[in-house]
Amino acid sequence: MPLVTTKKMFEMAYKNGYAVGAFNVNNMEITQGIVQAVAEEKAPLILQISRGAREYASNSYLMAIINVAVKENHDIPIATHLDHGDNFETCKQFVDDGFTSVMIDASKLPFEENIKVTKEVVEYAHANGVVVEAELGQLGGIEEHVVGVDDVEKHLTDPNQAVEFVEKSGVDSLAVAVGTSHGAYKFKTEPKLALDRIQQIQDRLPGFPLVMHGSSSVLKEFIDLINKYGGKMPNAMGVPESAISKAAKTAVCKVNIDTDLRLAVTAKIRQVFAEKPSEFDPRKYLGPGRDAIKAMVKHKLQVLGCTGKAGECI
Ligand code: G3H
Ligand code: 13P
Ligand code: ZN
Repeated sequence: MPLVTTKKMFEMAYKNGYAVGAFNVNNMEITQGIVQAVAEEKAPLILQISRGAREYASNSYLMAIINVAVKENHDIPIATHLDHGDNFETCKQFVDDGFTSVMIDASKLPFEENIKVTKEVVEYAHANGVVVEAELGQLGGIEEHVVGVDDVEKHLTDPNQAVEFVEKSGVDSLAVAVGTSHGAYKFKTEPKLALDRIQQIQDRLPGFPLVMHGSSSVLKEFIDLINKYGGKMPNAMGVPESAISKAAKTAVCKVNIDTDLRLAVTAKIRQVFAEKPSEFDPRKYLGPGRDAIKAMVKHKLQVLGCTGKAGECI
């Protein structure tokens, strides 16, 4: 099966109450770890590439790796997605490079400008059979942004604006701000999310797929290993997996995970370096890093509820 768009995946995820994992890839080992997990668990998959990933490894290398994964796993629907495209030109380049999905993130622009650039990307992408994700609202911890009630309103996605945005831009899915943020330090004290927003948006846009960014859980297992073996990541905190599972049952059809991959591979490499200080064969530490990613992704698929769902997404 060739690469697919996210259309069928989102239809099935919405209908059957699960979410598809969108994992960031930067090199071969990360990609293999993820793909081995979904192949064994028979789950649909979105592999996403950020601008930083493209700058690090180039689209052609990453696409070559992904194409091998697609060829070797006929029964797994795999979509390739540009994560946080910053302007029309970047999105156009990824469409031209053969990606099946792109994100235009113009969430920092004023509302009308966000609609305008999103619409331009939608027109170009749709003409080439590619689907588009956009973002409305500002990602970030509720407490970190918030001084008063008004500040919450400024950062979280406004449900009424979401309707206008989707109608005017023609976008296929929407990333919403509900208190999650990128990285390993998402909350200062306790996790606080505005998951009720998702329901409010879903009520106004029935059937429309939503996306959650910044959804790594920052697993204790890996933070403990990192801190034990010479790292320093005190106070790291992620989104509780119970919240992810809850969101996955709603209109949230795509959940973005990058930090948890980074933590898994870093933890394992640190462990190997500490336990075998004379080791200098990259395969001996990148291999365990890849295995850790595989195990972690298998676990995530359970959290998202998409284990065994590959078949229905084809
Ligand atoms: O959007 C955040 C992702 O984790 C990608 O991060 O731009 O460092 O590749 P990156
Ligand atoms: P995390 O940093 O929580 O993994 O989020 C990744 C993400 O949203 C990529 O777009
Ligand atoms: Zn993101």
